[in-house]
Amino acid sequence: MKETNIYETDELVSQYCDFQYGDDYFGVENFALTCAQKSIGYSKGTQQKKALDLGCATGRASFELTQSFDRVDGVDYSQAFIDAAEELQKNGQIRYAQNGEGDLKKQLLIDMTMYSFRDSCVKAQFFQGDACALDPEFKDYDLIMATNLIDRLYQPQLFLTSIHERINHGGVLLLTSPYTWREEYTAKEFWIGGYKDENGNEVSTLEGLKKLLDENFELIATEDIPFVIRETSRKFQHTISQMSVWRKR
Ligand SMILES: C[S@@+](CC[C@H](N)C(=O)[O-])C[C@H]1O[C@@H](n2cnc3c(N)ncnc32)[C@H](O)[C@@H]1O
Repeated sequence: MKETNIYETDELVSQYCDFQYGDDYFGVENFALTCAQKSIGYSKGTQQKKALDLGCATGRASFELTQSFDRVDGVDYSQAFIDAAEELQKNGQIRYAQNGEGDLKKQLLIDMTMYSFRDSCVKAQFFQGDACALDPEFKDYDLIMATNLIDRLYQPQLFLTSIHERINHGGVLLLTSPYTWREEYTAKEFWIGGYKDENGNEVSTLEGLKKLLDENFELIATEDIPFVIRETSRKFQHTISQMSVWRKR
């Protein structure tokens, strides 16, 4: 893992508080809520005991999953994100600063009583951890979701080739990613797609995922999921993630 982690800054914690719990922008639905709802939908018909939200950030999707699963583990590399999720769970609220123009900021409050998971949220537990080197106790899941994570991992192959060991048979692995591979996060030799092979053929990330996951998972669906991250009052990132849903053989 690289020495600096941009996800540890207050700025990023505030940005993700806003992204995961704040208003919707330009008619695009809350991404964490959408991903949790899709995950719950795809895991209907299998048992819904234990779920893992890898790269959970400030915990919104983990909390949403507690409405269907008996226990939800949220894991993130960033201690600052885990602290924010735990503060919300413990204190029922958290304050964050939303960027305006330049130095201007607005203080906002997230209040857990506003959400439908206000009672079930106690079923979530949060841990600092590394998706590429997870501790052995993270296992026996009926659902693992890893949204917008793979193109932020230093070696996504380590995660993708071992994750089957942690999912029950028939369980669901739900991935989303905009596949914006960047060398500051992932050295080029570890990109799963988004490059040309030695014969000049383009390799897409979905092809790369199939290669790594095919042995243990069946691909059951793909779908485009948009999201908007607010940077300032006048600057927003509008991105289209590709969701792929895999069932453990
Ligand atoms: C782009 S954000 C996505 C957050 C959230 N899942 C979402 O969909 O909005 C990537 C997240 O992955 C976390 N992350 C990065 N590398 C990680 C690793 N090796 N293990 C676990 N989490 C990691 C970051 O701290 C950050 O919370």
